[in-house]
Amino acid sequence: MTTTQEIRVAVNGYGVIGKRVADAVAMQPDMVLAGVCDVAADWRPRMAEAKGYALYGAGPGHVSAMRAAGLDVAGTLEDLLTRADIVVDCTPKKVAAANVEAYRRRGIRFIVQGGEKHAVTGHSFVAEASFAGAIGRDSTRVVSCNTTSIVRTLTALKRAGLLVRARGTLLRRATDPWESHLGGIMNTLVPEREIPSHQGPDAQSVDPSLDVVTMAVKVPQTLAHLHYWSVEMTRAATRDEVLAAFGASSRIALIRMDDGLDALNAVKEMMADLGRPHDNLYEVALWQDMLSVQGNELFYAYMVDNQAIVIPETIDAIRAMTGLAADAAASMALTDTALRIGHLARR
Ligand SMILES: NC(=O)c1ccc[n+]([C@@H]2O[C@H](COP(=O)([O-])OP(=O)(O)OC[C@H]3O[C@@H](n4cnc5c(N)ncnc54)[C@H](O)[C@@H]3O)[C@@H](O)[C@H]2O)c1
Repeated sequence: MTTTQEIRVAVNGYGVIGKRVADAVAMQPDMVLAGVCDVAADWRPRMAEAKGYALYGAGPGHVSAMRAAGLDVAGTLEDLLTRADIVVDCTPKKVAAANVEAYRRRGIRFIVQGGEKHAVTGHSFVAEASFAGAIGRDSTRVVSCNTTSIVRTLTALKRAGLLVRARGTLLRRATDPWESHLGGIMNTLVPEREIPSHQGPDAQSVDPSLDVVTMAVKVPQTLAHLHYWSVEMTRAATRDEVLAAFGASSRIALIRMDDGLDALNAVKEMMADLGRPHDNLYEVALWQDMLSVQGNELFYAYMVDNQAIVIPETIDAIRAMTGLAADAAASMALTDTALRIGHLARR
């Protein structure tokens, strides 16, 4: 039941990210899901209906098509926005940018995802780095999956006073699993044309002080991204010091090869066994027994579940913008408890 403390959240675009955001909102003690909106009229919105989420169509034509498909539709996006305090736009790249005018006209707060440019909102969000700047804002952008992982890990090193500069190579998944029949690559690797690839500059849109360069290659699998990093530290530090720096963040899970978590599929299987929705790995899963230090040089690798990592950040962005939490730590504690983040394979 809605209380005056609860923020009503609308989710526009019920796809890979939107359905996960909707589930996460529904799990928060201080938020209610006002409803979800889409343009599809197939099995996907039917799943929202099955979960008891109020379903809306983007426009009158979409509502008609959804009703013709037997879906119980409560109205249009406009109707949904009248019942919400904030909207999280999870429509595909560039569609969200076109929706922004409607949100501004209506005066509703909005969040876009990493497919949009920084300029769409003028603020880019990762909880541990830019929560304070989002407080009270009308809009923000939760950065992409890769950028979120970069900012989380480099912020941890920066907080420990260890970071000078970082150089990373990203092996990017080709497409999302459920869309594997529609596209993606097979039997090849596709290097990104430019160095730096866009993720390094994107991380600087969250924290301009980061000295970071990324290179990227698309690989023929769908499970997750894999990053390899080389970092110059401010001084020669021990492995234990570095692990303590990473371990200070609940959003970085220190996993171990010798625990059997020696490949992306094994980590995903563990998420399934934990009973997490959609097998979500919300954390950056960083191999502690692979991590290596040589003097002031640091080397490590981690896995990024591209479909899941931005979900807790989106929840924290809602709290920052609506005043539900005073700072990142308070919001993250609530999010982490609701999503059961922070209890992975540490020893
Ligand atoms: N998939 C990922 O791994 C990932 C990771 C991080 C960030 N993102 C970003 O999240 C955003 C959404 O990506 P996604 O992967 O969830 O896309 P998606 O294609 O899986 O989902 C988009 C959904 O929006 C719906 N839609 C399309 N046009 C619409 C409209 N006009 N109104 C309402 N709904 C509409 C589609 O039917 C679909 O259900 C993008 O900005 C993307 O860059 C994606």
